[in-house]
Amino acid sequence: MIGKFITLEGIDGSGKTTQGLLLEKKLLSVGRKVFLTREPGGVSGAEEIRELLVKGKKDRWSNITEVLLFFASRRHHLEKVLLPAINSGKIVICDRFTDSTIIYQGREDKELVELINQLNDTVIGIIPDLTFIIDINPEISLKRCMKRNSNEIRFEKLGLNFQKKAQKGYISLSQKEKRYQLIDGNNKEEIVHNLIWEKVCKFLNILE
Ligand code: TYD
Repeated sequence: MIGKFITLEGIDGSGKTTQGLLLEKKLLSVGRKVFLTREPGGVSGAEEIRELLVKGKKDRWSNITEVLLFFASRRHHLEKVLLPAINSGKIVICDRFTDSTIIYQGREDKELVELINQLNDTVIGIIPDLTFIIDINPEISLKRCMKRNSNEIRFEKLGLNFQKKAQKGYISLSQKEKRYQLIDGNNKEEIVHNLIWEKVCKFLNILE
């Protein structure tokens, strides 16, 4: 891969989206070519699949069907947007990727996590170079989400216990590979951004 692939992860309302925008701005300000995108979605087609996933009743799909929908959306996003951007040398920042599927759909089901990893190997084939996991108190983040006035709350509807489990899942995931950077998200935006920026500078050899 010529470019770099950075992902942002965390429970709902953890501040990934804001941090993605701040990171994009900062990288542009030091002259880097950046492409910011998100999952599920990031390109038409994948955004249409997103509608099926983030809206409606929480039990509208079985776990496996949901995994397949996420991967259909991811494969389309990969072909149309992610690979062309990475192969043109850009720093791609993606708000959520396969780690979200491991945490949200895999939950504690080992067989499902295995299926997710197999699907990632066979139909996606890339692993991020660097993944920020923004860790936040689920009580605070869930309140933030509920204030958003959005109808994309299918996963928020799973409630506080689910968000707490997801938080734990992310923390244990962060210990599994070197690419994971666990970031304390219980701080002001600029402080969280500075923590992320410090790591990105090291990773990209940016001298400040
Ligand atoms: P997102 O737009 O990142 O929501 P937020 O900004 O609130 O974090 O993601 C939408 C929802 O999709 C989110 O609740 C998490 C869920 N999701 C999964 O369950 N599995 C996945 O693989 C992905 C990418 C997202």
